[in-house]
Amino acid sequence: MCGIFGYIGTQQALPLLVEGLRRLEYRGYDSTGVAIHGENDVAVHKTVGKVADLQAILPGQVEGTMGIAHTRWATHGGVTQVNTHPHHAHDGNIHLVHNGIIENFRSLRQHLEQQNIECISETDSEVLVQMMALERAQGATPLEAVQRTLKRVRGTWGLCIMFRDENMLICARNGSPLIIGQGEGEMFVSSDPHPLTSHTQRVVYLDDGDVAVVSRSSITMHSGQGRPSQPNVTVLEEEWGESELGDAPHFMLKEIYEQPDALRQCIAGRIDREMGSGRLGGMRLRHDTLVQTPHVRLLGCGTAYYAAEIGQMLIEKMARIPAVTHISSEFRNNDPVINPKALYLAVSQSGETADTIAAVKEIKLKGGQIFGVVNVVGSTIARLCGQGVYIHSGPEQSVASTKAFTNMVAALAVFATQLGRTRHLSKEQGRELIDQLQQAPHLMETYFEDTGPLSEAVDLLAEAKSVLYLGRGLSASVAKEGALKLMELAYIPCLAYPAGEMKHGPIALLEEGSPVVVVAPNDHLKEKTLSALHECKARGAKIILIHEKGDSIASEGDVSIAVPSIHPWLTPLLTVVPLQLLAYETALRLGRDVDRPRNLAKSVTVE
Ligand code: F6R
Repeated sequence: MCGIFGYIGTQQALPLLVEGLRRLEYRGYDSTGVAIHGENDVAVHKTVGKVADLQAILPGQVEGTMGIAHTRWATHGGVTQVNTHPHHAHDGNIHLVHNGIIENFRSLRQHLEQQNIECISETDSEVLVQMMALERAQGATPLEAVQRTLKRVRGTWGLCIMFRDENMLICARNGSPLIIGQGEGEMFVSSDPHPLTSHTQRVVYLDDGDVAVVSRSSITMHSGQGRPSQPNVTVLEEEWGESELGDAPHFMLKEIYEQPDALRQCIAGRIDREMGSGRLGGMRLRHDTLVQTPHVRLLGCGTAYYAAEIGQMLIEKMARIPAVTHISSEFRNNDPVINPKALYLAVSQSGETADTIAAVKEIKLKGGQIFGVVNVVGSTIARLCGQGVYIHSGPEQSVASTKAFTNMVAALAVFATQLGRTRHLSKEQGRELIDQLQQAPHLMETYFEDTGPLSEAVDLLAEAKSVLYLGRGLSASVAKEGALKLMELAYIPCLAYPAGEMKHGPIALLEEGSPVVVVAPNDHLKEKTLSALHECKARGAKIILIHEKGDSIASEGDVSIAVPSIHPWLTPLLTVVPLQLLAYETALRLGRDVDRPRNLAKSVTVE
């Protein structure tokens, strides 16, 4: 979704801002712009389209050592140049970029109109800059103008504001992340840690309610009613691995193939083979908490939700205590009953998903114990929870999540083992699971040596009106994840169902040649899944079967793709991989923008 980058220092700002925007591209956006503070004026350049389109319209040189930049993902108002950020005040003295949503922008706009100030864009963001200009005209300092404006605003914001007559930026946060990177005589502002890593490791995470005045050499925090204070500077944890595309054609393919190494990073140091247990230090779980917990609830959206579903089943299998998974947006809007003894897990790659953040706040408010299962270090969910497990996938830049899914599953499997060992799981069972989990990266690599007849499967999928995905138990959630991947990348309507439920409705969709993807690893549900497969075949469906290598059911598929065998509880780590590749290859065949599918954003920071 929207991204912010800002700079104040001694270097020329424009190249740094463009590079910052480029590093924010993966979040998904539809228009982009920059404002550079020159000696006498502020130069603004913005365009609908990609950062490359912006670069194409930039003049050869734009002098200035301070500036702000933005990638916009439209919410209020269409995808037009005038709606693109940065927005400026009617007098041209203030420029601003904004992430988030201003809920009361209509009434603020009316207020401005009464003062004869017309907004030129349709956005909610522009009212902020116009309100600040109004405050300035009434004698407020820049800081006062920002603070007074924000007092009148309802909604969420990450803001970076530049004043024509001042050598400073003002940043503010409420519900939308913002980080200040501290360099030597220069400062960087970003909504995402990723663009900061090449400049500095020293960062200040703004908290909700913070307003920061940023000069080349200082950051002063003005939060709440208190006196100005020094910020809390922390070190940005170095993310492992390369975040550049390198030789890969797309980030998605690169990230699919990074899964074995990502998985190794996720489990390293977190398993205790001797005890056959998990060892998740960041969860800070006390033994009595584990023993007494009555149930576990997991929350997430999209891919994270499907990973959480698998985690739920693993917890029930290993620990024999009830576990339930909730879609974050549903959970938090239904006045949930929170049991303070239960364990709540918020699962999120970005750690910035608005619905999951709101659910975390609701749980905390009601006294629940909440733990993050998060990829992005220092993200809002990680900091709100203050305890949990980083999944250590490394930067995931493709909008479609892949390596975060497998690492979420792995982290939840380690947690389930730890919980299970305090209850029903024997040491031998624990050891067996741990051994198999340690094998999983190698088994993924084995699959990559022979990915099977993917292009034959793509022949069936690329022509399809719709695709049905089926699986049972753990594989039902894998089927859902595979369907989500194909739908979001190839724009083909996909339906995923637990295989036993197929005959209760979706079977009506089947006609001669309809592709059905069946996930049937060698577990206790395989035979039942095969019954559904036969029911599909009998109606002319073409079966793409994901099965374990050497299994005689291979002959049941019109196209059969084999993955290496693993412990039945860990099969999602392998069966999902061909589904990711199928979505990728089908999208490519159809000429889609694989890394940045239409309308989607990497972190969904609005409700
Ligand atoms: C699908 C996808 C989305 C995200 C969802 C949650 O490929 O990426 O469905 O999984 O928006 O995002 P996080 O995990 O960042 O909370």
